[in-house]
Amino acid sequence: MNVMIYMDNAATTMQKPKEVINAVVEAMTSLGNAGRGAGEAALGAARIIYETRERLAELFHAEGPKQIAFTPNSTESLNIAIKGSLNPGDHVITTMLEHNSVLRPIYALKEQGVEVTIIRADKKGNIRLEDVEEEIRANTKVIVCTHGSNLTGNLVPVEKIGETAKRHGIRFIVDASQTAGVYPIDVQAAHIDILCFTGHKSLLGPQGTGGIYVREGIILPPLKSGGSGVDTYNPNHPSQMPTALEAGTLNGHGIAGLNAALAYIKKTGMENIRERELHLMWKFYNGVKEIPGVKIYGDFDTKKRCPIVALNIRDYDSSEVSDELLVTYGISTRPGAHCAPLMHRALGTVEQGAVRFSFSHFNTEEEVGTAVKAIEELAVE
Ligand code: ALA
Repeated sequence: MNVMIYMDNAATTMQKPKEVINAVVEAMTSLGNAGRGAGEAALGAARIIYETRERLAELFHAEGPKQIAFTPNSTESLNIAIKGSLNPGDHVITTMLEHNSVLRPIYALKEQGVEVTIIRADKKGNIRLEDVEEEIRANTKVIVCTHGSNLTGNLVPVEKIGETAKRHGIRFIVDASQTAGVYPIDVQAAHIDILCFTGHKSLLGPQGTGGIYVREGIILPPLKSGGSGVDTYNPNHPSQMPTALEAGTLNGHGIAGLNAALAYIKKTGMENIRERELHLMWKFYNGVKEIPGVKIYGDFDTKKRCPIVALNIRDYDSSEVSDELLVTYGISTRPGAHCAPLMHRALGTVEQGAVRFSFSHFNTEEEVGTAVKAIEELAVE
């Protein structure tokens, strides 16, 4: 097999800045447990966790660091946000673009009497904004949607949906799994009430890091209760952010890595990282789009998108194509359903799945050239 060419960055970024790796190693040899000890090690953990909150608050323009709670990933954040915002009899609007981390909590709530509307996506994988407003009812409590599809890479104009939600007094929850670290997100300007993000994708941090921004004034019931390091004699878990959503020891070692990743993104410039990733994505897209037998999914009429290209070759099973890419060319991609069942339904790819290429700024032009050549060769009849 050739040297591995990693093009599965929408699943997790594998190449991390060396600063991130060094920060995790250093944390593992020096950090104690934040809020659970007297001494330099515990204080060191508390300091680094607080600094990371500050960096995230700055990145998302939160009112302040206490509005950011750490979780292990977007899935947990979305479960907190969705389950904590809806009761039987309430209505929620979401879209066909969503990942199962949005859909499955909603399906579970539907069983308990929550009304659900799923906005249809067209063949290009886009929703119509007018549809969102048209579906609003008197009991609509929440609109929840992704900022960017993990399958097509299409962006959703969350600023416009946020404006609609605000006008109707509806809570707006955004899944930023694919965009945090790639596109600027201003929760206040976009009227986002709750933002769910993960650390291990474009934020370039370790797996097991992630978080949730909750607008000041919103009280979310925690999914978990337990040790908080404060208010020990209170039988209830503290209700103030961020402790309200952080029961148990935090992933201090991982958060130290995320802290370094945020510093790296700031130093490098998010727009520089994005431009590089989009440049590689367009190079790949332009290289494969005319190849006979190749079908590409998503909206490429707009320049603003996530660095993702999902495709199929003829009627070949996507898993077999991904296997061939790996075995013959050393290229890692993600085939199959991508935990996005309704998006595949909208695109008509439920049976075949799709082969997803997702780029990092650490990919090279040469790697993209190899990927284009691989698709050319695999598409020969
Ligand atoms: N949600 C991740 C993906 O899209 C894991 O691959």
